[in-house]
Amino acid sequence: MDQVAQIREKIDIVSFLAEYMTVSKAGRNFRALCPFHNEKSPSFMISPERQVWHCFGCGKGGDIYTFLMDYEHIEFPEALRVLAKRAGVELIESKAQAGMSSKKERLYSLNALAAEYYHYILTKHKVGGKAREYLLERGLSEKIINTFQLGFAPNTKTSLTTYLIRKKKYTIEDLAEAGLIFQRGRDAIDFFRGRLMFPLVDHRDNVVGFSGRVLDKDVKTSKYINTRETLIYHKGEGFYGLNITKDAIRKAGQAILMEGEFDVISSFQEGVSNVIAVKGTALTPEQVNLIGRYAQKISFCFDGDKAGQDAIKRSLPLVEKKNLKATIILLPNGKDPDDAIKQNPTGYKLAVKKDIGVYDYLFDQALLSGDIASAEGKKAVADAFLPVIASMTNEIIKEHYLRKLSLSLETTYESISKELERQQKAVLKEKVPTPPPPIRKQSREEMLEDYLISLIMQFQAPNAALEKIFSILSPTNESEKAYQKILIHMVEYFKKHEAFDQKLFSGSLPPELVFSYNKSLLFPLPPLLTSEAYLREIEKVARQIRELYLRERLKIVGADLAKKEKEEDNEAVEALTKEYGLLMGLLKKGNQ
Ligand code: CTP
Ligand code: MN
Repeated sequence: MDQVAQIREKIDIVSFLAEYMTVSKAGRNFRALCPFHNEKSPSFMISPERQVWHCFGCGKGGDIYTFLMDYEHIEFPEALRVLAKRAGVELIESKAQAGMSSKKERLYSLNALAAEYYHYILTKHKVGGKAREYLLERGLSEKIINTFQLGFAPNTKTSLTTYLIRKKKYTIEDLAEAGLIFQRGRDAIDFFRGRLMFPLVDHRDNVVGFSGRVLDKDVKTSKYINTRETLIYHKGEGFYGLNITKDAIRKAGQAILMEGEFDVISSFQEGVSNVIAVKGTALTPEQVNLIGRYAQKISFCFDGDKAGQDAIKRSLPLVEKKNLKATIILLPNGKDPDDAIKQNPTGYKLAVKKDIGVYDYLFDQALLSGDIASAEGKKAVADAFLPVIASMTNEIIKEHYLRKLSLSLETTYESISKELERQQKAVLKEKVPTPPPPIRKQSREEMLEDYLISLIMQFQAPNAALEKIFSILSPTNESEKAYQKILIHMVEYFKKHEAFDQKLFSGSLPPELVFSYNKSLLFPLPPLLTSEAYLREIEKVARQIRELYLRERLKIVGADLAKKEKEEDNEAVEALTKEYGLLMGLLKKGNQ
């Protein structure tokens, strides 16, 4: 057996997918809310027998490999590597495979080498002396420098380039694609120079890029620069530190979200290790999804300035949408966590323990927007907090805060509720309806075809249905539809076999039909208790499809006929009239 299949056998698809979504049993199969499109009722089906999945909402489907590739936006070689590790299978890479290993893989290795190089310069080379001193001054231990693999990029034009090209045999093109150099005319110049280096590592331990901080606070360039967008580095996709802190985050059930690299490193060194950094940007939906895989609670510990607080407010709707719990950690002192830890480590740890619910926090903030002794002040406070209440999904929580607000403002519960209603109506009026997600709509014909083939495939004696179907829907040689092709394969199958064996049958299908076949096995059917009921349903659907085909054909012949009549092509008119009559006859017969 080849390794791809061996790994597929070793990993149970249901428990594997259960790590990404909540799955529940549905007959012989399992179902879940699809992670690839937004939906309220589950249409993502998993078959433990076939070890495949299919979503009837968005049409995606496949096995563990395709799932991981779609979910993580990775290519096959990487998915194979990840799953091999999980299955405990050591990959034997053939020369051809190694040669084909994707471009992304090449960039990962290149970045990993660059990280080693920068780390070596910082920790061992005399050029890194000043940077070492800087880090010691900021209180970082040697151990933490190693844990986060911090580095230093020498302040020369081509030191990294020379190393990677001369010693490691990479090409200028490779380096450019990794964003490690920029090209000035015919020269290639190191992108990071004279900077403290932080490798940016994804949660699967691939070095995807770097951020670099200036050492000299007098230089006029940006304090931090990051790798530009490359094939493997996309701003707003990951978190700084997650590769190191993900286990602590999972264990705590909480991810503490910070702004900067030093915040994360200081907190980690202080023993609060379930921390990650967004690196100064607003939280993205991808990032919220990523956290949701490790913890159900996000605790914001952003800078105390207005920018930091605004970033929290902007991020909250995303967190709410994903049904994660959000809290705020209020720093007792200092401008950011790193600073607070330096000033008062005990106070910092206490603040972490006393994180407050995000609504209580926003409520306190809202109270600062006006002096509630005056009518205007009351209105200002209400205006600041009512949108927050409007965004709450739980009615009990909503009522709690409505009461709290009415008490603080010394107004009645009724007038606050009325005001909320009024504001919500106004917002609804303003809102332009958002178009539904781009899910390809199936025609009625396609839906019926899918249903028919699913009925047959999930029937324990599919051969009993075959004859019936072919008497209603005669197969033609030029049939292009997947379901017809599968049926024809099934006829061939039953020429050689007595009983129906899913595995044997799917093995006999050409690869391009396997997707449709898997889909048919996972299609959720209404309960049909007896064989008779099954066969009756099959016949009914087959007749409906036949009627659709006939009507379609009638439309075409009718249009042709009109055209030929206009052209006075009598011969054609005669033939078409005959065909039209024939089709009408068939349609009538079918409806009897
Ligand atoms: N940042 C960035 N590019 C910039 C400025 C900031 O990517 N030009 C990111 C960095 O990850 C930085 C974070 O935003 O850590 C927060 O920025 P800031 O508060 O300005 O820096 P500090 O974290 O306080 O950095 P330091 O402690 O090193 O001074
Ligand atoms: Mn700082």
